[in-house]
Amino acid sequence: MTNAPLKALRAQTFSFKDDPFCVSPEDAISYESDGCVVMQGGKIIDVGPAQAILAQYPNLEVTQYPDHLIMAGFVDSHVHFPQTEIIASYGEQLLTWLNKYTFPAEMKFADEVYAQQGATFFLDECLRNGVTTSSVYCTVHAQSAEALFAEAARRNMRITAGKVLMDRHAPEGLSDTAQSGYDDSKMLIEKWHNKGRGVYCITPRFAPTSTPEQLEAAGVLWKEYPDALMQTHVSENHNEIAWVKELFPDCPDYLGVYEKFGLMGAGANFGHGIHLVEREIALLKEAGAGISHCPTSNTFIGSGLFDMQGLRDCADPVTVGLATDVGGGSSFSMFDTMKAAYEIAQLRGYNFHPAKIYYLATLGSAHLLRMGDKVGNLAKGYEADLQVINLKSRPLITERMKHARDIWEVLFLQMILADDRAIKAVYVAGEKVYENA
Ligand code: GUN
Ligand code: ZN
Repeated sequence: MTNAPLKALRAQTFSFKDDPFCVSPEDAISYESDGCVVMQGGKIIDVGPAQAILAQYPNLEVTQYPDHLIMAGFVDSHVHFPQTEIIASYGEQLLTWLNKYTFPAEMKFADEVYAQQGATFFLDECLRNGVTTSSVYCTVHAQSAEALFAEAARRNMRITAGKVLMDRHAPEGLSDTAQSGYDDSKMLIEKWHNKGRGVYCITPRFAPTSTPEQLEAAGVLWKEYPDALMQTHVSENHNEIAWVKELFPDCPDYLGVYEKFGLMGAGANFGHGIHLVEREIALLKEAGAGISHCPTSNTFIGSGLFDMQGLRDCADPVTVGLATDVGGGSSFSMFDTMKAAYEIAQLRGYNFHPAKIYYLATLGSAHLLRMGDKVGNLAKGYEADLQVINLKSRPLITERMKHARDIWEVLFLQMILADDRAIKAVYVAGEKVYENA
């Protein structure tokens, strides 16, 4: 038994008991209109109705949040921290957007101080949006990953990140080699993987910017550290897909490239996956790999409409997480991201229930990152990463709330109307790290 002090928060509480893609929304969640969360030693030790909790733990010191809802912190399964400064860049689609905006911005992260400042701003912005865990692309420079891991460790945040691997079709100054990329990644793994709450993610940018030799080295590295994660992009844009066909003519399809080099398996997190073919979908299921759905990016850079129903809301689903993909994505807010996911589903004639969308924004993303037993839920035994949402954060929301008849209408209207102003407080490992005064 630990003697660490107990801390408790009292408000409405929202947790998952099950997967809402498998059981009804009602059976998937537990909601308390007057709930209490008890934390100790960085973990959640109890959640339940306030009356029962207060009776069970006498002398609890309780922080009250009336008109607020406590849930797990959001989990963003795919984001580029060095692209913060080019969010909202006009007029291009993927390949020209990369050359015109992304690569010039990423070059600046060769400078250690610049990278540190970027990491600090990025993590501040995540927290002010209730995002407590992210899967982060750094730049090709090892120092960019150092800066991010160090800043996340300082805040005790559970993140996964990796130095980008890129040894062709990129500007000089933004390229490594198969050997140096392998060596730098390995050095970063030894230093940061499973140290504190950090997890290393082997990060080949995407097939067109790596030689076969580099992809092979990445696959070898993943074999050496199988509990590290792997992230890359797949099947986002039609010109990109055609380019991959030209570069890897012997592979049957885009995912076939990653498969060939040992980059397919549980813990592989593929961004976008909008235009996948049948063989690729079967491959993901067989391997237990997953897709990060990046809805604001897919609309903002005009990539296409992800098939959530076909891939996830079906008898034999693919693992899916939800992601901002800043700076192709146009918002750090998971409310905006959930709203875009809903709207894309609407355009495809799929009625996407808020239980499922909130699940993907928290526990679903956590499962994709193989952290579904640690973060992404407000439940006993989970790490105490949580957010307190103000349900009346602006006049229009307050007005609309008067007409909300149940928790689903409340969650749905927040998803459509709320922004960072609604995030009242954020706790990481039981400590308050952000408060919106
Ligand atoms: N494909 C390869 N690199 C990137 C990137 O930085 N953003 C997006 N959206 N797609 C990519
Ligand atoms: Zn991306």
